[in-house]
Amino acid sequence: MEIQLSPCQPLRGEIEVSADKSISHRALIFSALAQGEGSVNNCLEAQDIRATCNCLRQLGVEIKAKQGRLIVRGNGWQDLQEPDDILDCGNSGTTMRLLTGLLAGRPFLSILSGDASLRRRPMRRIIDPLERMGASISSRHNGLAPLAIKGQRLKGIDYQLPVASAQLKTALLLAGLQAEGPTVLREAEHSRDHSERMLSAMGAGLRFDGGEITLRPGFALEPQDFQVPGDISSAAFFIVAATIVPGSELLIRNVGVNPTRSGVIEVLESMGADITAENCRVIGGEPVADLLVRSAPLRATVVEGSLVPRLVDEIPVLAVAMTVAEGESRVDGAAELRVKESDRLAVMCSELNKMGGHVEELPRGLIIQGRPGGLQGARVDSFADHRIAMSLAVAALTATGETTLTQAEAVDISFPQFWTLLRKLTEIV
Ligand code: S3P
Repeated sequence: MEIQLSPCQPLRGEIEVSADKSISHRALIFSALAQGEGSVNNCLEAQDIRATCNCLRQLGVEIKAKQGRLIVRGNGWQDLQEPDDILDCGNSGTTMRLLTGLLAGRPFLSILSGDASLRRRPMRRIIDPLERMGASISSRHNGLAPLAIKGQRLKGIDYQLPVASAQLKTALLLAGLQAEGPTVLREAEHSRDHSERMLSAMGAGLRFDGGEITLRPGFALEPQDFQVPGDISSAAFFIVAATIVPGSELLIRNVGVNPTRSGVIEVLESMGADITAENCRVIGGEPVADLLVRSAPLRATVVEGSLVPRLVDEIPVLAVAMTVAEGESRVDGAAELRVKESDRLAVMCSELNKMGGHVEELPRGLIIQGRPGGLQGARVDSFADHRIAMSLAVAALTATGETTLTQAEAVDISFPQFWTLLRKLTEIV
C-alpha cells in the first residue's frame, strides 16, 4: 500500500494510542502458564499479538474475547501440548524469543518460524544460554530461525547478558521458571523490566535490584487481571509530530511511562521539547501518565550509552526530530538497530537523505546535521518495518511538498489505527 502525505496543520486535540506491545505479549504468555483464568484488559490488537495468541492456542491454551477483554485459561505448565504444526511467529521477535525460552523446558517438539525479516534476525543470543541450561535447539545457518526445540529438563544458570535485551532476559526467565535451581541474570545496562514486575505480581520467586535478577523456581503463577497501558513507543510518533509541527498542542492519554522505557521523553526535553506529564498514576504495577505536548524548536543532542536500551525502538523517530533540530546530533552505541525488523540505521539514513536530510551512517549509530524546515517530500519506503513507516510519516508532516510512502501497511504490526488517527488529526493523509 502507498500513502501520500503532505505538510500539515497544527496537531490539536486529544488521542489515545494503541496498547503496549511488550506488556500485551507478556500478559498473554504469563497468563497461559498460570493456574486458572486470567484476563488482559486493553490488550493490543495488532499482527504481532495475533501471532502470540495463535501460537499459544496451538499449544492448547484457551484465549477468548469477552467484553473488550481477553480471557486466558491457563492450566499451568503441565497442560501445554505439543503443537501439531509449525508455530508461526510472523514478524514478531518477542513471540519467537519468549516462546523459545518457554518451550525449551516442555517435554515435546516445537518448531518456530516466521516471516523473511524474522528469519534473518539473530537467535544465537538465546540459543547459547538456553543450551547451557540444558536445552536442545537446532537452528538454520548457526542461529537463524526456523528453530526446532526438543524440550529437556533444564537447570538454572548464572549469566551475564552480552546484549541489553529484554527479549533475551525474558526468554531466560521463562526457562528459569521451569529449571532446577536458581537462575541469576546480570545486566550491564537495564532493559525494559515489565517481565520482572509482572512475574513478581504473579507470585514468582523473583528478586530484582540494580542490574541483578535472581529467580527461584517452584512457585505457582497466580492468574491476574492485567491492565495494559498505551504504548510509549507508539505515542512517540505523535510526541515528535506535535513537537515539530508549529502551533500544535496535543494531549496523549494513558501512556505507560515506565522509567526503563521513557528515555524518549528525556531526550526530547533535552532538545527543547515541551512535554508535560499529567495525572501520573500507577496501574497494574506500571507508571502511567497523560502527556501534553506543545510544539517547540529543537536543538541537537547526543544519544548513547545506558540511554539506548531505554529508547531503543524510538531511535528512528528521534532521528526525524534530530533532522529538523538546529545543529549536529549523534546516536552511538545503537548497533542493535541493525538487527531489528529492518536495519534501522541504514534505512533511516537512506530514506531521510532522499528527503533532503544530512544523515551519515556509523557502524553503531548516526550523525545528523539538522536544520529546521530542512526536509522535502520524496518517494520513500518503510522496508516493511512498522516503526520506519511511522517515523517517515512524521518526517513528511514538516517536509515541503508531497511524500509518497510505500509498504505503508507495515503499521499493522504494532499500531493498526495509526493512519486513521493521523488522518483525523491532520486531514492530510
Ligand atoms: C522488546 C524488547 C526490545 C524491543 C522490542 C520489544 C520486548 O527488543 O526492541 O520491540 O518486548 O521485550 P530487544 O530485547 O531485542 O532489545
